[in-house]
Amino acid sequence: MERPHWAPESIDVERPSVARMYDYYLGGSHNFAADRAAAQAMIAAVPEAPLMAQANRAFLRRAVQFLVESGIRQFLDIGSGIPTVGNVHEIAQRLAPESKVAYVDVDPVAVAHSREILVGNDRTVILHEDLRNPERILHDPQLRKLLDFDQPVAVMIVAVLHFVPDADDPAAILAALRDSLAPGSCLVLSQASDDGRSDDERRDADEIYQRTDNPLNIRSRAALTAFFDGFELVEPGVVWVPQWRPESPDDADDAERAVFMGGVGRLGG
Ligand SMILES: C[S@@+](CC[C@H](N)C(=O)[O-])C[C@H]1O[C@@H](n2cnc3c(N)ncnc32)[C@H](O)[C@@H]1O
Repeated sequence: MERPHWAPESIDVERPSVARMYDYYLGGSHNFAADRAAAQAMIAAVPEAPLMAQANRAFLRRAVQFLVESGIRQFLDIGSGIPTVGNVHEIAQRLAPESKVAYVDVDPVAVAHSREILVGNDRTVILHEDLRNPERILHDPQLRKLLDFDQPVAVMIVAVLHFVPDADDPAAILAALRDSLAPGSCLVLSQASDDGRSDDERRDADEIYQRTDNPLNIRSRAALTAFFDGFELVEPGVVWVPQWRPESPDDADDAERAVFMGGVGRLGG
């Protein structure tokens, strides 16, 4: 098979990747047959999968707009994904051109493609790192050169934490990130939640993601709220993502079908 220029030699194209499955849900073209087969199996089991991805992206867009309007000019987007329409730097720099965005992803395709689209944008950087190594991310020289941690930073961990099992202690990862932040910094989180899902649907989704390197860890609203420890939740708190400051009330209809819950917290000081 011919390897497209955005696919590094190191990747196994026969093994589905969660980044490339998500790209497929969003209608992107950075995916292979194995990714499409797994994503289609997921859609057969959970027909809302593409809607979930779109609702999550819309949440990310509204959250970045809210943060820029609140004065935030620095973003650390961890698990940023394969670039698609409406990436954080595009949203933030359109509203405030001086905004700086550091992207981090563990997936080589996400990193290679991000690097490509960020050429020439000196207020962005992309790191190939794992969220589970927060100290490595925080001490990365490129990151430190771009972001000033004496000023507020918005840490975005959007549609990623369900790939981090409790055994990897997500609360400790979040605490390490939080403790490096200045007052006024923010945390944006979303992840898959199981409120309202049938056991069958949950089992099907689990089985499909077992084929990837990232099995799913679906969590309750209470667990997600606890991840904001040390932050003050911005209204309306942790909700189904379409309910988070919707542009029109109709957008929040059937919100639980989006499967993702999310929220934004602010660090007082
Ligand atoms: C569902 S996508 C979400 C992309 C983007 N944040 C969004 O909301 O549209 C999840 C991304 O998280 C990345 N990811 C999963 N586990 C990770 C980890 N431990 N560290 C860094 N990135 C991770 C995947 O490679 C993928 O690109």
